Amino acid sequence: IQNDYEKLSLWAARHIAKTIKDHQKVSDRPFILGLPTGSSPIGTYKELIRLNKAGYISFKNVITFNMDEYVGLPRDHEQSYWTFMHENFFNHIDIPAENINMLNGNAEDVKAECARYEEKIKSYGGIDLFLGGIGADGHIAFNEPFSSLSSRTRQKTLTYDTKVMNSRFFGGDINKVPNTALTVGVQTVTDSREVVVLVNGHSKARALQATIEGSVSQAWTCSALQMHPNALIVCDEPACGEL
Ligand code: GLP
Repeated sequence: IQNDYEKLSLWAARHIAKTIKDHQKVSDRPFILGLPTGSSPIGTYKELIRLNKAGYISFKNVITFNMDEYVGLPRDHEQSYWTFMHENFFNHIDIPAENINMLNGNAEDVKAECARYEEKIKSYGGIDLFLGGIGADGHIAFNEPFSSLSSRTRQKTLTYDTKVMNSRFFGGDINKVPNTALTVGVQTVTDSREVVVLVNGHSKARALQATIEGSVSQAWTCSALQMHPNALIVCDEPACGEL
C-alpha cells in the first residue's frame, strides 16, 4: 500500500525493473512481460521509461504481450491499444519492434488470431510477469464479470458499464466505443509466474475489496488472483477504503 498514485507508480516500476534485471543476471532467455493499457499503468510506464533512459534497465531482451485490443478500430486509431502502448511506452524505450506482441483486433479469423497468441506465449515458455489493472467491476484485461476463471484468449463483449467508463476516451460518446475486444483469458494471466496488479483511487475500492476479501468467483474475475502463488497488488490509500 502506497500513499498515493505517484508513489504506487514508482514502487511498481522499480519492482518490475528489478525483477527483469535479476532475471537477466542469471539467464540469457528473454524476459516475457505481459502489459496492460488504461490510466492505472501510465505512471508506471513513465518511471520505466526514465529508468531505461538512465541506463538502469534495458528492454532489448524483453518480449512483451499486451492483454487486449478493441475489435474493429483501425490499428492507428487514436484510441486503439496499439496507439496507446506506442505513445505511452514503446516509442520511448529501447525495445526492438519485433519483440512487441499485440492482438490484432482486425484479424479476419478472430479465433485463429486468439489461438496464435496463446501459442506464441507458450512458445516462449509462458509469461514471467503479467502487469495488470482492474476495472471498477473487477474485470482483469477485458474479462468481464462472469468470464470463466479458466478462460483463454478470445473475443469478449464489453459490458454496458465498461463502455460507459471507457466512453471518456471516445469524446464521451458510448456509441463510439467498440462492442467487443480480443482479450487474454483469466487463466492466461494467472498462468504467468508472477502477476502484479495496480489499483488506485476510491472508484476501485469495492473491486479491491472483492479481489482480496471476497470469495473466489467469476462475478469478480480479479478474485482469481487469490489462487495465484505469486500475485502482488500495488495500491494507494484511497483504493483501500473498503478493506
Ligand atoms: C480497461 C482495460 C483493463 C483496465 C481497465 C481499467 O477495461 N481493458 O485492462 O484494467 O480498463 O482502466 P483504468 O486503469 O483506466 O482504470
